Amino acid sequence: MTALSVSTSSAASLRADALVIGVAKGPKGLLPAAGSEAVAEAFDGKLAEVLATLGATGAEGEAVKLAAPAGLKAPLVLAVGLGDGEQGFGLETLRKAAGTAARALAGTKKAALALPAATAEEVEAVALGGLLGSYAFGSYKSDAKAPVGELVVLTERKGSKDAKAAVERATAVGEEINRARDLVNTAPNDLNPKSFAAIATAAGKEHGLKVEVLDEKALTKGGFGGLLGVGTGSANPPRLVKVAYTHPKAKATLAFIGKGITYDSGGISLKPAGHNETMKCDMAGAAAVFATVVAAKRLGLQVNVTAWLALAENMPSGTATRPGDVLRMYGGKTVEVLNTDAEGRLVLADAIVKAGEENPDVIVDVATLTGAMVLALGTRIFGVMSNSDELRDRLHATAEAAGEQSWPMPLPVELRKGMTESSIADLANMGERMGGGLVAGLFLKEFVAEGIDWAHLDIAGPAFHEGAPHGYTPKGGTGSAIRTLLRFAEDTAAAKG
Ligand code: BES
Ligand code: MN
Ligand code: ZN
Repeated sequence: MTALSVSTSSAASLRADALVIGVAKGPKGLLPAAGSEAVAEAFDGKLAEVLATLGATGAEGEAVKLAAPAGLKAPLVLAVGLGDGEQGFGLETLRKAAGTAARALAGTKKAALALPAATAEEVEAVALGGLLGSYAFGSYKSDAKAPVGELVVLTERKGSKDAKAAVERATAVGEEINRARDLVNTAPNDLNPKSFAAIATAAGKEHGLKVEVLDEKALTKGGFGGLLGVGTGSANPPRLVKVAYTHPKAKATLAFIGKGITYDSGGISLKPAGHNETMKCDMAGAAAVFATVVAAKRLGLQVNVTAWLALAENMPSGTATRPGDVLRMYGGKTVEVLNTDAEGRLVLADAIVKAGEENPDVIVDVATLTGAMVLALGTRIFGVMSNSDELRDRLHATAEAAGEQSWPMPLPVELRKGMTESSIADLANMGERMGGGLVAGLFLKEFVAEGIDWAHLDIAGPAFHEGAPHGYTPKGGTGSAIRTLLRFAEDTAAAKG
């Protein structure tokens, strides 16, 4: 794993294999950014010219390598684009630039990041972007390239106590996001409900979190018809895992619920080829809430966070749930399963009722729930739905502040009809096709206890990245929603503390 540290050494004198600087698009050409002064000096004032000769434009995502001149300890300079930023650079721009640099330097032992980092927030952004960008999933490759070994964030910040704290925070958050990415990327023949529960149990022990696992026996005894119904076609039985972090002075308790379908074949309503190759990612919500609770503990937040992992494998077989079957969910509601591929809402419903029994201040569920949300918002934005407009808007704003893209979505009452009419049960797990992402949200809402504020994040788009890597986003699992949940927990702690 990549090591992160902070230093107030000058960029010229620090011993490293590569030195990273930022370069922006100025109105009259390239503008080397704050942090690059020592490098510019070593180039005798010709840095912008040399970069332009090499084709650099300063565009975001660009990375140009040049041999370092005499006067710099590092043999290599890497210039990363910061886009147009005459008024200074946003934190997300810094995260992306550091991520691009870390990716470009894979295989390097030690790199120094001499990017704009005058405030503690900027130091944290550079550090986090660097750590996220250095992520590589090499578990199955015999010739995996090692990620950059060590990243040193350079800052001019004197008396750098807050810079140190910023890097420590970035380390905890970055490592937990990378943990979630590993879980998502692990092949579904290795990660199933049981092995996921075992990983949660081990991590809970390591970090001092309380972990409770309900296995298939306990789920049967408790009447968790949703989890059991989805898992019954699989040789790998379902699990409901509770991971609790408590702070002695906490004034609020947050319940975060994650959809944890370790593989979604669609079940008897089997997905066609072309739609199931990436369905190991269907546990990204569970990975996100798990990573969040561990990070909350590592940061010692003054708020209680309970993560609920609703784990099952959705497979077709002679024992699988059939379209037409009726399930009795935890809490007693009955659901007619019209399509076994709408399984996420079934496992989440059980978990929402269970989590609600503890009367948390807020419930947020996170799920790769619908293809409809991907059609609506694309692959980089998650949808936010809620039974409270205030909570929905707050989560949208929280995501923005944390550097994640989201959009508020409605839960229109008229779409509820299709799920409740002409069913032999209380509900059907499908309604109208149009607005399918909202129908799924409305289904979940049926299971939220009176008086509890609840929100639903549909991360089906951003959870798994199929294109080329960009910024700090790798191919595969992204760790979507973790920064939002964590920031939400931090804001709650600050407001109530
Ligand atoms: N896991 C899928 C949703 C999904 C799609 C996640 C694309 C990530 C990328 C979910 O279980 C599903 O199959 N949903 C169905 C629901 C439908 C049958 C009502 C869908 O969206 O088609
Ligand atoms: Mn499905
Ligand atoms: Zn699914």
